[in-house]
Amino acid sequence: MRRRSSNIVAFSCMFFILALQAILPISSASLQFGFYDYNYKCKRTNVELLVRGVVAKAIRKDPGVGAGLIRMYFHDCFVRGCDASVLLDPTTANPTPEKTSVANFPSLRGFEVIDQAKAKLERRCPGVVSCADIVAFAARDAAFFLGRISYPIPSGRLDGRISLQSEVLQNLPAPSFSLSQNEAFFANKGMSPEEMVTLSGAHSIGRSHCSSFTDRLYPTEDPTIDRSFAGILKGMCPQNAAVDGVVPQDIVTPNRLSNQYYKNVKAHKVLFTTDQNLMSSSDTAAMVKENARNQTAWKAKFAAAMVKMGNLVELTGPPGEIRKNCRVVN
Ligand code: HEM
Repeated sequence: MRRRSSNIVAFSCMFFILALQAILPISSASLQFGFYDYNYKCKRTNVELLVRGVVAKAIRKDPGVGAGLIRMYFHDCFVRGCDASVLLDPTTANPTPEKTSVANFPSLRGFEVIDQAKAKLERRCPGVVSCADIVAFAARDAAFFLGRISYPIPSGRLDGRISLQSEVLQNLPAPSFSLSQNEAFFANKGMSPEEMVTLSGAHSIGRSHCSSFTDRLYPTEDPTIDRSFAGILKGMCPQNAAVDGVVPQDIVTPNRLSNQYYKNVKAHKVLFTTDQNLMSSSDTAAMVKENARNQTAWKAKFAAAMVKMGNLVELTGPPGEIRKNCRVVN
């Protein structure tokens, strides 16, 4: 009798593990630190260093591109996992890939940096380094150059062959979301409220188009926005302007990835409803205050959350591939 019940327990455990494997997209076990160091074709090329060199040059020319690369990684990983689906250009077979979604077009930038790194790598060791890994390395490198945030990231991701505009807004939070909507979108990817607060610190760099936040200015001013800050934003983003202008996310240190973001949230000087809403619950407000106080701790949490985001991998074999050109499937 005892034996039978222990068999039942063992069977249920096994069933539970199998069921869990089936529903969880995360397969970080297939990713490895220094994955390309072991590839004989790439032996003479330090793949990660090569990407870092390309990113360094691009950021020296325009630091905004670094912000674009960090955002690109987020937009890639949250939609179908980190599979470079965000890089695919429209084709006659697929006229509306992720890239054409309002969340990505025309705001997402940094594509040429990925193209440059890929072209160099294809010359050294063709068909080895995935575009998805280049995106992950490039975001890591941008965090280093713009914030002196340094972390190793495992690699071995594959590139996907599917990219659908219709999946983007189902997976990426909108800037007008409530705190609970935002938390639900992160939870859907296995990310905690604390990781959501930590990663939002990326809004200490880069820019936003006026259209992403003018609902907070017109027709009535959002009462949670600092009055003088709202005045500055109205000057930069006039109502019914013919052109969708851009403003820096952080007017204090626009090109430094830092905890200044959390000071801005506390001062009600941030662009999006989602940013300001971090103060709308005592839990997340306490995290904001702690991050504003302790930059070193925030940087460590940011690095860990970036690595975790990179573990959102859904493809572990065919139809996953190593694209020759990051903009088109093979
Ligand atoms: C929490 C939910 C988030 C929302 C609602 C959100 C929304 C947005 C929006 C609307 C923009 C401006 C796009 C434009 O109009 O040009 C933006 C920019 C940016 N976001 Fe987020 N974001 C979120 C989380 C994140 C995360 C997790 C990261 C990365 C870790 C990130 C990194 C960035 C960066 C770096 C920029 C500036 C991009 C550039 O200058 O090209 N965001 N975000």
